[in-house]
Amino acid sequence: MAGMSRRQVLRAGVAAGVSAAAGLTFPAVLRAQVKPLKIGLLLPYSKVYAVLGESITNGMRAVFEAEENRVAGRPVELLREDTEVSPPVALRKLRKFLTSDHVDFVVGPVSSAVAAAIRDPIHQARVILLNANAGDNALTRERCSSYIFRTSFSNWQTSYGLGAWVKQRVGGTAYLTGPDYAAGYQIVGAFKESFVAAGGTVVGESYVKLGSTDYAAILAQIGAAAPALSFSFFAGSDAVHFVKQFAEFGLKGKVRLTGAGFLVSDDVLESQGEAAVGGISTLHYTRTLQNPQNLEFRKRYQALTGRPPDVYAVQGHDTARVILEALRQTGGDTADPDRLSRVIRGIQFDSPRGRFRFDPATHNVINDMYVMEVRRGEEGLANYVLSVVKDLKDPGHCPNIAA
Ligand code: PHB
Repeated sequence: MAGMSRRQVLRAGVAAGVSAAAGLTFPAVLRAQVKPLKIGLLLPYSKVYAVLGESITNGMRAVFEAEENRVAGRPVELLREDTEVSPPVALRKLRKFLTSDHVDFVVGPVSSAVAAAIRDPIHQARVILLNANAGDNALTRERCSSYIFRTSFSNWQTSYGLGAWVKQRVGGTAYLTGPDYAAGYQIVGAFKESFVAAGGTVVGESYVKLGSTDYAAILAQIGAAAPALSFSFFAGSDAVHFVKQFAEFGLKGKVRLTGAGFLVSDDVLESQGEAAVGGISTLHYTRTLQNPQNLEFRKRYQALTGRPPDVYAVQGHDTARVILEALRQTGGDTADPDRLSRVIRGIQFDSPRGRFRFDPATHNVINDMYVMEVRRGEEGLANYVLSVVKDLKDPGHCPNIAA
Protein backbone atom coordinates (compact mmCIF):
# COMPACT_ATOMS: atom_id res chain seq x y z
CA MET A 1 0.00 0.00 0.00
CA ALA A 2 3.04 2.26 0.35
CA GLY A 3 3.00 5.15 -2.13
CA MET A 4 -0.75 4.92 -2.74
CA SER A 5 -3.05 7.90 -2.29
CA ARG A 6 -5.99 7.46 0.11
CA ARG A 7 -8.36 7.20 -2.88
CA GLN A 8 -6.24 4.49 -4.53
CA VAL A 9 -6.13 2.57 -1.27
CA LEU A 10 -9.90 2.72 -0.98
CA ARG A 11 -10.28 1.53 -4.56
CA ALA A 12 -7.79 -1.25 -4.05
CA GLY A 13 -9.63 -2.34 -0.93
CA VAL A 14 -12.89 -2.58 -2.82
CA ALA A 15 -11.28 -4.33 -5.78
CA ALA A 16 -9.87 -6.95 -3.42
CA GLY A 17 -13.38 -7.42 -2.12
CA VAL A 18 -12.36 -7.51 1.52
CA SER A 19 -10.74 -4.43 2.91
CA ALA A 20 -9.78 -6.32 6.06
CA ALA A 21 -7.48 -8.48 3.93
CA ALA A 22 -5.31 -5.43 3.45
CA GLY A 23 -5.30 -4.90 7.18
CA LEU A 24 -7.77 -2.04 6.91
CA THR A 25 -11.28 -1.75 8.21
CA PHE A 26 -13.38 0.81 6.40
CA PRO A 27 -16.75 1.93 7.64
CA ALA A 28 -19.58 0.66 5.38
CA VAL A 29 -20.36 4.16 4.20
CA LEU A 30 -16.84 4.64 2.83
CA ARG A 31 -17.03 1.32 1.01
CA ALA A 32 -20.35 2.39 -0.54
CA GLN A 33 -18.87 5.68 -1.66
CA VAL A 34 -16.05 4.18 -3.71
CA LYS A 35 -18.27 1.65 -5.47
CA PRO A 36 -18.68 2.94 -9.02
CA LEU A 37 -22.05 4.48 -9.72
CA LYS A 38 -23.37 2.44 -12.63
CA ILE A 39 -25.92 4.12 -14.86
CA GLY A 40 -27.48 1.92 -17.53
CA LEU A 41 -28.38 3.98 -20.61
CA LEU A 42 -31.21 2.15 -22.40
CA LEU A 43 -31.38 4.39 -25.44
CA PRO A 44 -31.55 4.21 -29.23
CA TYR A 45 -28.14 4.61 -30.85
CA SER A 46 -29.36 3.43 -34.26
CA LYS A 47 -32.42 3.85 -36.52
CA VAL A 48 -34.97 6.69 -36.52
CA TYR A 49 -34.20 8.02 -33.01
CA ALA A 50 -30.39 7.52 -33.02
CA VAL A 51 -29.61 11.23 -32.68
CA LEU A 52 -32.02 11.51 -29.74
CA GLY A 53 -30.13 8.81 -27.81
CA GLU A 54 -26.79 10.49 -28.55
CA SER A 55 -28.08 13.89 -27.41
CA ILE A 56 -29.45 12.50 -24.13
CA THR A 57 -26.11 10.77 -23.49
CA ASN A 58 -24.11 13.90 -24.28
CA GLY A 59 -26.33 16.06 -22.07
CA MET A 60 -25.58 13.69 -19.19
CA ARG A 61 -21.86 13.64 -19.98
CA ALA A 62 -21.78 17.45 -19.88
CA VAL A 63 -23.05 17.38 -16.27
CA PHE A 64 -20.85 14.54 -15.05
CA GLU A 65 -17.69 15.83 -16.73
CA ALA A 66 -18.15 19.15 -14.91
CA GLU A 67 -18.07 17.01 -11.72
CA GLU A 68 -14.92 15.18 -12.94
CA ASN A 69 -17.08 12.10 -13.33
CA ARG A 70 -17.51 11.58 -9.59
CA VAL A 71 -20.78 11.85 -7.72
CA ALA A 72 -20.75 11.93 -3.91
CA GLY A 73 -17.28 10.36 -4.10
CA ARG A 74 -18.30 7.57 -6.50
CA PRO A 75 -16.82 7.33 -9.98
CA VAL A 76 -19.56 7.47 -12.60
CA GLU A 77 -19.81 4.68 -15.17
CA LEU A 78 -22.18 5.20 -18.09
CA LEU A 79 -23.09 1.83 -19.63
CA ARG A 80 -24.72 2.15 -23.06
CA GLU A 81 -27.09 -0.31 -24.67
CA ASP A 82 -28.81 0.35 -28.01
CA THR A 83 -32.56 -0.38 -27.86
CA GLU A 84 -32.76 -0.12 -31.67
CA VAL A 85 -36.22 1.41 -30.89
CA SER A 86 -37.45 -2.17 -30.40
CA PRO A 87 -39.32 -3.44 -27.31
CA PRO A 88 -37.91 -7.01 -27.45
CA VAL A 89 -34.34 -5.77 -27.92
CA ALA A 90 -34.77 -3.27 -25.08
CA LEU A 91 -36.14 -5.98 -22.76
CA ARG A 92 -33.11 -8.14 -23.44
CA LYS A 93 -30.70 -5.27 -22.78
CA LEU A 94 -32.59 -4.31 -19.61
CA ARG A 95 -32.21 -7.86 -18.32
CA LYS A 96 -28.45 -7.55 -18.80
CA PHE A 97 -28.38 -4.27 -16.86
CA LEU A 98 -30.35 -5.81 -13.99
CA THR A 99 -28.87 -9.27 -13.69
CA SER A 100 -25.31 -8.90 -14.94
CA ASP A 101 -24.25 -5.24 -14.59
CA HIS A 102 -26.30 -4.55 -11.44
CA VAL A 103 -26.82 -0.90 -12.40
CA ASP A 104 -27.81 1.69 -9.79
CA PHE A 105 -30.11 3.57 -12.19
CA VAL A 106 -31.64 2.90 -15.60
CA VAL A 107 -31.96 5.94 -17.90
CA GLY A 108 -34.21 5.89 -20.96
CA PRO A 109 -35.92 4.94 -23.13
CA VAL A 110 -36.88 7.25 -26.02
CA SER A 111 -39.83 5.37 -27.50
CA SER A 112 -43.22 5.10 -25.78
CA ALA A 113 -43.54 1.54 -27.09
CA VAL A 114 -40.26 0.56 -25.41
CA ALA A 115 -41.28 2.36 -22.21
CA ALA A 116 -44.54 0.42 -22.02
CA ALA A 117 -42.63 -2.87 -22.44
CA ILE A 118 -40.05 -2.25 -19.71
CA ARG A 119 -42.42 -0.81 -17.08
CA ASP A 120 -43.24 -4.07 -15.28
CA PRO A 121 -39.68 -5.47 -15.12
CA ILE A 122 -38.46 -2.12 -13.75
CA HIS A 123 -41.19 -2.04 -11.12
CA GLN A 124 -40.59 -5.65 -10.09
CA ALA A 125 -36.80 -5.20 -9.89
CA ARG A 126 -37.30 -2.05 -7.74
CA VAL A 127 -34.65 -0.19 -9.69
CA ILE A 128 -35.06 3.54 -10.30
CA LEU A 129 -35.91 4.38 -13.92
CA LEU A 130 -35.27 7.97 -14.91
CA ASN A 131 -37.28 8.22 -18.08
CA ALA A 132 -35.33 10.78 -20.08
CA ASN A 133 -37.70 10.93 -23.03
CA ALA A 134 -40.54 8.47 -23.69
CA GLY A 135 -43.81 10.34 -23.20
CA ASP A 136 -46.25 7.42 -22.85
CA ASN A 137 -49.03 9.00 -20.76
CA ALA A 138 -49.82 5.78 -18.89
CA LEU A 139 -46.38 5.63 -17.23
CA THR A 140 -47.29 8.51 -14.95
CA ARG A 141 -51.00 7.68 -14.86
CA GLU A 142 -52.51 4.20 -14.47
CA ARG A 143 -49.15 2.40 -14.96
CA CYS A 144 -47.13 4.68 -12.67
CA SER A 145 -44.62 3.27 -10.20
CA SER A 146 -42.73 4.49 -7.12
CA TYR A 147 -39.55 3.63 -9.03
CA ILE A 148 -40.32 5.53 -12.24
CA PHE A 149 -39.69 9.25 -12.71
CA ARG A 150 -40.06 11.17 -15.93
CA THR A 151 -37.54 13.95 -16.54
CA SER A 152 -38.83 14.81 -20.03
CA PHE A 153 -42.60 15.32 -20.70
CA SER A 154 -45.80 13.37 -21.02
CA ASN A 155 -47.11 13.06 -24.56
CA TRP A 156 -50.19 15.03 -23.50
CA GLN A 157 -48.05 17.93 -22.24
CA THR A 158 -46.28 18.40 -25.59
CA SER A 159 -49.35 19.30 -27.61
CA TYR A 160 -52.40 20.06 -25.48
CA GLY A 161 -51.46 23.75 -25.14
CA LEU A 162 -51.17 24.25 -28.90
CA GLY A 163 -54.69 23.26 -30.01
CA ALA A 164 -56.59 26.27 -28.71
CA TRP A 165 -53.66 28.60 -29.52
CA VAL A 166 -53.58 27.79 -33.24
CA LYS A 167 -57.37 27.71 -33.48
CA GLN A 168 -57.45 31.33 -32.30
CA ARG A 169 -54.47 32.61 -34.31
CA VAL A 170 -53.94 30.37 -37.36
CA GLY A 171 -57.24 28.86 -38.45
CA GLY A 172 -60.15 26.54 -37.77
CA THR A 173 -59.40 23.49 -39.96
CA ALA A 174 -56.60 20.99 -39.41
CA TYR A 175 -55.18 17.77 -40.87
CA LEU A 176 -53.46 15.58 -38.24
CA THR A 177 -50.57 13.14 -38.77
CA GLY A 178 -48.08 11.07 -36.80
CA PRO A 179 -46.29 7.73 -36.60
CA ASP A 180 -48.42 4.65 -36.11
CA TYR A 181 -47.66 3.87 -32.45
CA ALA A 182 -48.62 5.08 -28.97
CA ALA A 183 -46.72 8.38 -29.04
CA GLY A 184 -48.31 9.33 -32.38
CA TYR A 185 -51.83 8.65 -31.13
CA GLN A 186 -51.31 10.31 -27.74
CA ILE A 187 -49.62 13.49 -28.99
CA VAL A 188 -52.02 13.97 -31.90
CA GLY A 189 -54.93 13.07 -29.59
CA ALA A 190 -54.06 15.78 -27.03
CA PHE A 191 -53.82 18.43 -29.77
CA LYS A 192 -57.14 17.32 -31.20
CA GLU A 193 -58.82 17.50 -27.80
CA SER A 194 -57.95 21.17 -27.29
CA PHE A 195 -58.35 22.18 -30.97
CA VAL A 196 -61.86 20.72 -31.16
CA ALA A 197 -62.83 22.08 -27.71
CA ALA A 198 -61.83 25.54 -28.99
CA GLY A 199 -64.18 25.13 -31.99
CA GLY A 200 -61.74 23.73 -34.58
CA THR A 201 -62.61 21.07 -37.15
CA VAL A 202 -60.39 18.10 -38.01
CA VAL A 203 -60.64 17.50 -41.77
CA GLY A 204 -58.47 14.38 -41.89
CA GLU A 205 -56.11 12.26 -39.83
CA SER A 206 -53.56 9.61 -40.84
CA TYR A 207 -50.73 7.63 -39.32
CA VAL A 208 -47.65 6.11 -40.99
CA LYS A 209 -45.09 3.50 -40.04
CA LEU A 210 -42.36 4.80 -37.70
CA GLY A 211 -39.13 5.31 -39.65
CA SER A 212 -40.86 6.06 -43.00
CA THR A 213 -38.85 7.96 -45.58
CA ASP A 214 -41.67 8.69 -48.05
CA TYR A 215 -44.61 10.89 -46.99
CA ALA A 216 -46.10 11.44 -50.46
CA ALA A 217 -49.42 9.69 -49.75
CA ILE A 218 -50.14 11.77 -46.62
CA LEU A 219 -48.98 14.99 -48.26
CA ALA A 220 -51.31 14.39 -51.21
CA GLN A 221 -54.20 13.97 -48.76
CA ILE A 222 -53.27 17.17 -46.92
CA GLY A 223 -53.10 19.03 -50.25
CA ALA A 224 -56.51 17.71 -51.30
CA ALA A 225 -58.15 18.57 -47.95
CA ALA A 226 -56.65 22.12 -48.07
CA PRO A 227 -56.92 22.84 -44.32
CA ALA A 228 -55.68 26.05 -42.68
CA LEU A 229 -53.02 24.02 -40.88
CA SER A 230 -51.45 20.62 -40.49
CA PHE A 231 -50.51 19.33 -37.05
CA SER A 232 -47.90 16.55 -36.80
CA PHE A 233 -45.85 14.65 -34.33
CA PHE A 234 -42.71 13.35 -36.00
CA ALA A 235 -39.24 13.24 -34.46
CA GLY A 236 -35.67 12.40 -35.43
CA SER A 237 -35.17 11.40 -39.07
CA ASP A 238 -38.98 11.18 -39.56
CA ALA A 239 -39.22 14.91 -38.80
CA VAL A 240 -36.49 15.75 -41.31
CA HIS A 241 -38.18 13.77 -44.12
CA PHE A 242 -41.70 15.01 -43.37
CA VAL A 243 -40.86 18.72 -43.18
CA LYS A 244 -38.63 18.72 -46.27
CA GLN A 245 -41.23 16.83 -48.32
CA PHE A 246 -44.01 19.13 -47.03
CA ALA A 247 -42.16 22.04 -48.71
CA GLU A 248 -41.24 20.01 -51.84
CA PHE A 249 -44.93 19.19 -52.28
CA GLY A 250 -45.71 22.91 -52.45
CA LEU A 251 -47.76 22.92 -49.23
CA LYS A 252 -45.63 25.57 -47.52
CA GLY A 253 -47.35 28.92 -47.90
CA LYS A 254 -50.75 27.24 -48.39
CA VAL A 255 -51.12 25.11 -45.25
CA ARG A 256 -49.47 26.25 -42.00
CA LEU A 257 -47.01 23.68 -40.64
CA THR A 258 -47.59 23.08 -36.92
CA GLY A 259 -46.64 20.29 -34.55
CA ALA A 260 -45.31 19.06 -31.25
CA GLY A 261 -41.95 20.83 -31.08
CA PHE A 262 -39.88 17.74 -31.94
CA LEU A 263 -41.02 18.33 -35.55
CA VAL A 264 -38.72 21.36 -35.91
CA SER A 265 -36.48 21.12 -32.81
CA ASP A 266 -32.80 22.09 -32.72
CA ASP A 267 -31.61 18.57 -33.63
CA VAL A 268 -33.39 18.59 -37.02
CA LEU A 269 -33.63 22.27 -37.99
CA GLU A 270 -30.30 22.53 -39.75
CA SER A 271 -31.13 19.61 -42.07
CA GLN A 272 -34.61 21.00 -42.75
CA GLY A 273 -33.38 24.53 -43.52
CA GLU A 274 -35.81 26.87 -45.26
CA ALA A 275 -38.55 24.20 -45.31
CA ALA A 276 -39.07 24.63 -41.54
CA VAL A 277 -39.35 28.43 -41.53
CA GLY A 278 -42.77 29.57 -40.32
CA GLY A 279 -43.40 26.30 -38.46
CA ILE A 280 -45.32 26.74 -35.19
CA SER A 281 -44.91 24.30 -32.34
CA THR A 282 -44.85 23.79 -28.58
CA LEU A 283 -41.99 22.34 -26.58
CA HIS A 284 -40.36 22.70 -23.17
CA TYR A 285 -37.03 23.88 -24.65
CA THR A 286 -35.43 25.89 -27.44
CA ARG A 287 -31.77 26.81 -27.53
CA THR A 288 -32.80 30.50 -27.74
CA LEU A 289 -33.96 30.60 -24.08
CA GLN A 290 -31.98 33.34 -22.36
CA ASN A 291 -31.84 32.07 -18.76
CA PRO A 292 -28.34 31.84 -17.17
CA GLN A 293 -28.46 28.02 -16.89
CA ASN A 294 -29.10 27.72 -20.62
CA LEU A 295 -26.38 30.18 -21.57
CA GLU A 296 -23.93 28.15 -19.46
CA PHE A 297 -25.16 24.78 -20.77
CA ARG A 298 -24.93 25.93 -24.38
CA LYS A 299 -21.26 26.78 -23.88
CA ARG A 300 -20.45 23.51 -22.14
CA TYR A 301 -22.39 21.36 -24.62
CA GLN A 302 -20.86 23.13 -27.62
CA ALA A 303 -17.37 22.57 -26.20
CA LEU A 304 -18.10 18.87 -25.61
CA THR A 305 -19.86 18.02 -28.88
CA GLY A 306 -19.14 20.85 -31.33
CA ARG A 307 -22.86 21.59 -31.72
CA PRO A 308 -25.61 23.46 -29.87
CA PRO A 309 -27.82 21.53 -27.48
CA ASP A 310 -31.34 20.36 -28.34
CA VAL A 311 -34.32 19.35 -26.20
CA TYR A 312 -33.02 15.78 -25.77
CA ALA A 313 -29.64 17.05 -24.55
CA VAL A 314 -31.43 19.13 -21.92
CA GLN A 315 -33.45 16.10 -20.83
CA GLY A 316 -30.12 14.26 -20.43
CA HIS A 317 -28.71 17.21 -18.52
CA ASP A 318 -31.67 17.28 -16.15
CA THR A 319 -31.59 13.50 -15.66
CA ALA A 320 -27.92 13.72 -14.64
CA ARG A 321 -28.73 16.63 -12.31
CA VAL A 322 -31.42 14.52 -10.62
CA ILE A 323 -28.87 11.73 -10.03
CA LEU A 324 -26.34 14.22 -8.73
CA GLU A 325 -28.78 15.86 -6.31
CA ALA A 326 -30.14 12.51 -5.13
CA LEU A 327 -26.71 11.13 -4.32
CA ARG A 328 -25.68 14.32 -2.57
CA GLN A 329 -28.70 13.88 -0.33
CA THR A 330 -28.08 10.19 0.42
CA GLY A 331 -24.31 10.59 0.82
CA GLY A 332 -23.76 8.40 -2.24
CA ASP A 333 -25.93 5.55 -0.98
CA THR A 334 -28.11 3.93 -3.64
CA ALA A 335 -28.93 0.70 -1.79
CA ASP A 336 -32.53 1.50 -0.80
CA PRO A 337 -34.79 2.26 -3.80
CA ASP A 338 -37.66 3.44 -1.58
CA ARG A 339 -35.44 5.99 0.12
CA LEU A 340 -34.07 7.10 -3.28
CA SER A 341 -37.60 7.46 -4.59
CA ARG A 342 -38.61 9.68 -1.65
CA VAL A 343 -35.51 11.84 -2.12
CA ILE A 344 -35.93 12.20 -5.90
CA ARG A 345 -39.56 13.24 -5.55
CA GLY A 346 -38.51 16.46 -3.79
CA ILE A 347 -35.65 17.46 -6.10
CA GLN A 348 -35.92 20.90 -7.72
CA PHE A 349 -33.41 23.07 -9.55
CA ASP A 350 -33.06 25.74 -12.23
CA SER A 351 -32.57 23.97 -15.55
CA PRO A 352 -31.77 25.30 -19.01
CA ARG A 353 -35.50 24.69 -19.73
CA GLY A 354 -36.68 26.77 -16.72
CA ARG A 355 -37.57 25.57 -13.21
CA PHE A 356 -37.32 21.78 -12.95
CA ARG A 357 -39.56 19.93 -10.47
CA PHE A 358 -41.65 16.77 -10.29
CA ASP A 359 -45.33 16.49 -9.60
CA PRO A 360 -45.01 14.35 -6.44
CA ALA A 361 -48.38 12.74 -7.12
CA THR A 362 -47.35 11.24 -10.49
CA HIS A 363 -43.52 11.57 -10.73
CA ASN A 364 -43.98 13.42 -14.02
CA VAL A 365 -42.04 16.66 -14.57
CA ILE A 366 -44.03 19.92 -14.54
CA ASN A 367 -43.08 21.96 -17.61
CA ASP A 368 -43.39 25.48 -18.88
CA MET A 369 -44.41 24.91 -22.50
CA TYR A 370 -43.15 27.41 -25.04
CA VAL A 371 -45.24 28.22 -28.12
CA MET A 372 -42.64 28.99 -30.78
CA GLU A 373 -42.12 29.91 -34.41
CA VAL A 374 -39.17 28.96 -36.62
CA ARG A 375 -37.48 32.10 -37.94
CA ARG A 376 -34.09 33.30 -39.06
CA GLY A 377 -33.30 35.68 -36.20
CA GLU A 378 -30.46 36.82 -33.99
CA GLU A 379 -29.55 33.18 -33.17
CA GLY A 380 -29.80 32.07 -36.80
CA LEU A 381 -32.40 29.50 -37.88
CA ALA A 382 -34.12 28.66 -34.60
CA ASN A 383 -37.35 28.44 -32.63
CA TYR A 384 -38.26 31.81 -31.10
CA VAL A 385 -40.76 31.99 -28.24
CA LEU A 386 -44.15 33.59 -28.98
CA SER A 387 -45.85 32.78 -25.67
CA VAL A 388 -45.55 30.49 -22.66
CA VAL A 389 -48.02 28.06 -21.08
CA LYS A 390 -46.75 28.16 -17.49
CA ASP A 391 -46.49 25.23 -15.08
CA LEU A 392 -48.24 22.66 -17.26
CA LYS A 393 -48.94 19.52 -15.21
CA ASP A 394 -50.12 16.31 -16.82
CA PRO A 395 -53.76 15.89 -15.72
CA GLY A 396 -53.21 12.20 -15.05
CA HIS A 397 -53.93 10.47 -11.80
CA CYS A 398 -51.57 7.89 -10.35
CA PRO A 399 -53.20 5.35 -8.07
CA ASN A 400 -50.20 3.53 -6.59
CA ILE A 401 -47.23 5.68 -5.72
CA ALA A 402 -46.17 4.92 -2.15
CA ALA A 403 -46.48 8.03 0.00
C1 PHB B 1 -42.09 8.69 -27.71
O1 PHB B 1 -42.12 7.61 -28.33
O2 PHB B 1 -42.64 8.83 -26.60
C2 PHB B 1 -41.36 9.86 -28.29
C3 PHB B 1 -40.32 9.65 -29.18
C4 PHB B 1 -39.64 10.74 -29.70
C5 PHB B 1 -40.00 12.03 -29.31
C6 PHB B 1 -41.04 12.23 -28.43
C7 PHB B 1 -41.75 11.13 -27.92
O3 PHB B 1 -39.35 13.08 -29.82
